Amino acid sequence: MELSFKKPSKKARKAMCQAALNLGNRKMEEYYKQQAEDIIKDSTHHEHARVVNSGNSAIMVAMSNMKGPVLIPDQGGWTGFKRIAEFLGLEITYLPTKQGIIDLELLENHFKYISPESLFITSFAGYMAEQPVKEIYEVCEERGVILVEDASGAVGDPMNSLACGDHSHIIVASTGSPKIVNLGNGGFISTNDPDIFKNSNYLLKSFRTSPVICAGMVESIKKAPDALSKTLDSCSFLKKKIKSVLFEECRGINVTLPSENPKKMARELRKKIPVEGGGIISTCPRYDRINQPAVCLEIKNLEIKYLKRENLSEIADITNKIVY
Ligand SMILES: Cc1ncc(COP(=O)(O)O)c(C=O)c1O
Repeated sequence: MELSFKKPSKKARKAMCQAALNLGNRKMEEYYKQQAEDIIKDSTHHEHARVVNSGNSAIMVAMSNMKGPVLIPDQGGWTGFKRIAEFLGLEITYLPTKQGIIDLELLENHFKYISPESLFITSFAGYMAEQPVKEIYEVCEERGVILVEDASGAVGDPMNSLACGDHSHIIVASTGSPKIVNLGNGGFISTNDPDIFKNSNYLLKSFRTSPVICAGMVESIKKAPDALSKTLDSCSFLKKKIKSVLFEECRGINVTLPSENPKKMARELRKKIPVEGGGIISTCPRYDRINQPAVCLEIKNLEIKYLKRENLSEIADITNKIVY
């Protein structure tokens, strides 16, 4: 079985090469930036967008607009939420979740006692399971809480449930490696509130990205719905084939296997499922995934063309034989 770690698509790389040849041409550089911001707005349905040099930069821009406490999930979030809030000296509160997934009753209950200014979540808890973003947004709207969705794993959701500005005040995303918009570098932020960008003018200048990334972003966002659908389908197929998985019924872009000995299981899996240029096995407990012993098959890291049924069946067969 041949598997390889995700690289930017050929079309994206071609566009990036062309943009590299135009470096120094101010007019063309502005054109690439504008094109990228336009396609981000199309994709997220937000009115304003900015391209930045990483996902964490986008989170920093969003958080630099906050003064009050930041609420984040107790697991299944992104470590950057905590690190950046600490860096900015913002108070952090943790929301109890069900294995990373936000429970709306718990959320409403939490808001009775604590009034955060913002809630930062990822579209998929730990890339494992879809968050009920629309419902979370409704609760936040009612309470005047700003919902920031890190959509690094969900750009281009064909169902418009995730990475959709109709029900997220701010969307941030990484376009680094290995993401759905996979350029090895860069990120973006979008919103309907123009003040967010007015207030962070200097940060946005400091975090600007190269026109090469902007050119790649245009091509890669066009392909995002297809890349995301194929990754979701593959995970759903694997979840049906593998005997013991978590979040069987949820949309997600990795597959989580509970394990009593995750380190040993991961070692075996890495040996039996080699991937050229990178890896697809991660271990838990880990804040970015789930707070219990488990192993994740990071299907999102794989080159889309290798997500064929025969490869996926082989991955499932291998995994079913390695149970710890
Ligand atoms: C969900 C999520 N958000 C943000 C980031 C940070 O992105 P970057 O490496 O572009 O700063 C990552 C990186 O892996 C991530 O997984």
